[in-house]
Amino acid sequence: MPIPNPANTTHDTPELDCIDFSGKTVYGDFRDDIVRDGFAVVKNALSPERAQHYVQEIHQWLEDFGLGYKRDDPSTIKEECLPIIHQKGLLQAYGIPHESFTWGVRSEPGVIGVFEKLFNTEDLLVSFDAVNVSLPNRRDLPPVKPWAHQDQDPLRPGFRCIQGFVNLNPCGDNDGGLMVLKGGHLVSKEYHEAFKNEEQEFRWTNEMYLFKDTGLKWLEEKGLEWVKVNCGPGDLVLWDSRAPHYNVAPTGDMARFVVYTAYAPVSTATKEDLIQKKWLFENTKGHSHWPQGFQPFVEQFIAPKRNGELDPHNNWTPRQKPVLSERAFKLTGIPYLEAMS
Ligand SMILES: [Fe+2]
Repeated sequence: MPIPNPANTTHDTPELDCIDFSGKTVYGDFRDDIVRDGFAVVKNALSPERAQHYVQEIHQWLEDFGLGYKRDDPSTIKEECLPIIHQKGLLQAYGIPHESFTWGVRSEPGVIGVFEKLFNTEDLLVSFDAVNVSLPNRRDLPPVKPWAHQDQDPLRPGFRCIQGFVNLNPCGDNDGGLMVLKGGHLVSKEYHEAFKNEEQEFRWTNEMYLFKDTGLKWLEEKGLEWVKVNCGPGDLVLWDSRAPHYNVAPTGDMARFVVYTAYAPVSTATKEDLIQKKWLFENTKGHSHWPQGFQPFVEQFIAPKRNGELDPHNNWTPRQKPVLSERAFKLTGIPYLEAMS
């Protein structure tokens, strides 16, 4: 039987009313950037020292596979010395969505505080998402072509999701990072009205859309420009899921280490979402950036393969289980689910 396109359809989530996109409200902080540009860099959500601490933890995690990677030896940056890392830098397997350093970043008060301010509530969920490890000079990986996309269903317009990552290493012009079409979120509804009859690329989920050359030309004719989002260690980068974006690999010598961090109000999740999220947490499973947890990673598709065989180094569990603070545990949604029953 042919696979339908999209392969998987999620339930809808409510539009978020925490930001006024009319331009009539001046916030005096990162929210103004999100309204105008569709993205924002929140400086020093954690200190550069904390960021460096996490950088060293990730290096240690890579070294502890025992495959030969050494943080100070660039000749060990090759597949045989490393866990299998997707060409776009994504690490979703090996238990990394629940590794101690991943939860450490998610639990940082300075990161949580930004989302509390954005959503005007402390009742939040956090995504159990991936980590990006884009090591420099990966000559053994094919070059990454631009893959402009938005992570939101074109049939569900409006501001429904904010994505984010905490950046851990310096990120300048030659370093791997995020490309965003500045202001693209504001024309999203008009765009999808214009392109509603164009045949779409294959998608695993309805909450995604890949732009083709025709669409990119339309956006260019609107005068919109792609920008590389440079940022420093400890900065939190946020973007509206309607904004076209993709990532680029490093061309210099700096590794890109980022932890994806998306939060949403608990009120946007159904009870079924919270039940599933609890199961995912208790079984150390990952899911997409939607914090409600309705898109678990499909292990069949993300299982790392080494020389054509399933990588024996992957057992889907973190090497060092996280110890969650009371605040961090609330972000799993479990206390809210227990309060319902
Ligand atoms: Fe994306």
